[in-house]
Amino acid sequence: MARNSRLPGFHKVSVQERRILVGDATGAGPDDIERSLDGGGLDAETADKFVENVLGTYALPYGVALNVRVNGRDHVVPMVVEEPSVVAAASNAARMVRESGGFQASADPPYMIAQVQIHSLPDASAASSKVMAHADEIAKLADAAVPGLVARGGGARGVEARVLAVDVLVVHVIVDCKDAMGANLVNSVAEAVADRVAAIAGGRAGLRILSNLCDKRCVRVQCCVAADALATDDMNGPDVIDGIVNASRFAELDPYRAATHNKGIMNGVDAVVIATGNDWRAVEAGAHAFAARSGRYGPLSVWRRDGDHLRGSLEMPMALGTVGGTLRVPPGARLSLRMLSGSGAPELACVVASVGLASNLAAVRALATDGIQRGHMGLHARSVALAAGALGDRVGRVAAMIVEARDITLDGARKALEVLSAEEGDAAGAEQPAGT
Ligand code: MEV
Repeated sequence: MARNSRLPGFHKVSVQERRILVGDATGAGPDDIERSLDGGGLDAETADKFVENVLGTYALPYGVALNVRVNGRDHVVPMVVEEPSVVAAASNAARMVRESGGFQASADPPYMIAQVQIHSLPDASAASSKVMAHADEIAKLADAAVPGLVARGGGARGVEARVLAVDVLVVHVIVDCKDAMGANLVNSVAEAVADRVAAIAGGRAGLRILSNLCDKRCVRVQCCVAADALATDDMNGPDVIDGIVNASRFAELDPYRAATHNKGIMNGVDAVVIATGNDWRAVEAGAHAFAARSGRYGPLSVWRRDGDHLRGSLEMPMALGTVGGTLRVPPGARLSLRMLSGSGAPELACVVASVGLASNLAAVRALATDGIQRGHMGLHARSVALAAGALGDRVGRVAAMIVEARDITLDGARKALEVLSAEEGDAAGAEQPAGT
């Protein structure tokens, strides 16, 4: 079935209707969506098998980014995030990009790095040469530690040695993890080869663990947006392009700004990584180490003018799995992977990075035009209205009242709710404000 991620009016319909629409668009099925997500997508009994000392589970909102077209293919992209406006902003920016053909993305092969630290060496440079002379033997040892992966076409792809100090060497075994994120596989490799590597090098084995700076497993995304698509009520498209290019330059010049610029990217990236049951701390660690690879922290994406278009590009490491690990268990993660059906790990990386670039575009466009607060506070007001105890259509009405009154506080929302209750003649007690 050819997918279509363009679902106009989606945000206006009920949760149940959205499930039907997404079911139609992805083939996941509304019952499947309901079963997988009700109760937060994970029951306490299953959670108890994941981590220790479990008391229950902790749910977050599960939404979908629309309009995401990557390499000509449409995706309805699951996002798990607590911050208002992230899902809407990514969908909105993806719609602008879609009008110019969508995102173009490519991912490196899923190569991870197993690190073995060798210390107490008399001469680390000489040890490095000895290790490299035994590279084939070390690769064979590595393969023997992960026969299942080798059977699936993965396994060791090379050995590297880096001198860190006169007495310290680190040996990298490059492992093709196929569609697995690979942490367990790579750690098994590191532990399996360590003693032999130490013996070859003539030193002592120290740490044996993967590196989260998986710079051989990067994803690159580009997009292009016409000036007209970027225009706002108050600013024409070419001026918006100038503002966004200026924002990019700011991030390129200043690590303080680059950190926030990258946070805008990670808003999109993390939300999809979490929804698909992947390890977002690993992705975060890789992203920021990569951003600092020149010795100076910089932005993961840059924006440039190209005639009457804006061009954006993003490069970052992306260690994701679509099989293995904990992915098989949580129903919510399994649902997400079904919704992105057919995506192996490299394709998933392309989708995740595209949503990251969309989130970044939405943020820098807002910053270069109206500022972030106008849209953000409108959505934040809804959370405040909910916290004050508003229900149903009163959430939106209370939110509108506190935005209008420029009083987006819990107190403001409680007062607005009282006004509504008085106007509509119901008992204030019908809606118990939270926290009272
Ligand atoms: C907020 O979650 C993210 C932003 O701060 C990103 C940015 O400044 O580019 C808006």
